[in-house]
Amino acid sequence: MELLASPPARAEDAAGYLDLLGPGDEPAPSPAQRAMQSTLLPRIYEQVWRPIGFNLAKGWPAGPDTAEEYALARSWLALGRPTDPRKPDMTVLDVACGPGNVTRALAEGVGPGGLVVGLDVSATMLERAVAEPAGDTIGYVRGNAARLPFRDGVFDAVCCFGGLHLFDDPWAALDDMTRVLKPGGRLALLTLRRPALPLAGPAGELIGRLTGLTMFGDQELRRALQERGYRRLRHHRLPLMQFAGGTLG
Ligand SMILES: C[S@@+](CC[C@H](N)C(=O)[O-])C[C@H]1O[C@@H](n2cnc3c(N)ncnc32)[C@H](O)[C@@H]1O
Repeated sequence: MELLASPPARAEDAAGYLDLLGPGDEPAPSPAQRAMQSTLLPRIYEQVWRPIGFNLAKGWPAGPDTAEEYALARSWLALGRPTDPRKPDMTVLDVACGPGNVTRALAEGVGPGGLVVGLDVSATMLERAVAEPAGDTIGYVRGNAARLPFRDGVFDAVCCFGGLHLFDDPWAALDDMTRVLKPGGRLALLTLRRPALPLAGPAGELIGRLTGLTMFGDQELRRALQERGYRRLRHHRLPLMQFAGGTLG
């Protein structure tokens, strides 16, 4: 509650997560987003959809597998390793947390005084997230990534894996992730990449029109991070995905 910009008088958390979206606050769902809000996709997301879809886009078998991806997130965000005897008590935001797969991986890198907050707009995804066992270092919020419900500069680290390409306005979401990050805080993104190939531009636009997904060009994310004051940029290109991140200020 201390992290929230406007804590509600009465916390609506009967579902196991804090619901901060009123009926009129929900972003209009694109076709891709509608799938995320269905009941079927959240059920098969972690075991089927993510490993197949993400691994192909990352260039399986050459690209990093899911465990390597999670280790990269912990390392880029300066969290501990799961086997470390002492881990930092950091406050971390996981934007577009889906069923909490990345949230739980991040929580493996924080100490007992830390907290990882998973935020997602989809109630069906969050239902899956809260069904998984979680300790005191995880909490879930239903909210919109483009209007994060948190105070300025309260998080040590922000992660957004598999979310940016789904947002209506990814740059507004990036602005807000930056707003809630402390100076010196770290950001890690994993999102779709538009390969530098002939016809990739028009193909990306067509995919965007049909699905609502955005594919980001190689320099686009780097520039967006630089413009928002990130330094020590990190960028890792894969066939159809990219990791990008940096340190704020
Ligand atoms: C592909 S899942 C990613 C889950 C997890 N982070 C991962 O890497 O596997 C994308 C999530 O973004 C969420 N999402 C899409 N638009 C959103 C928005 N405007 N605000 C918050 N979450 C959003 C969807 O509901 C979905 O759960």
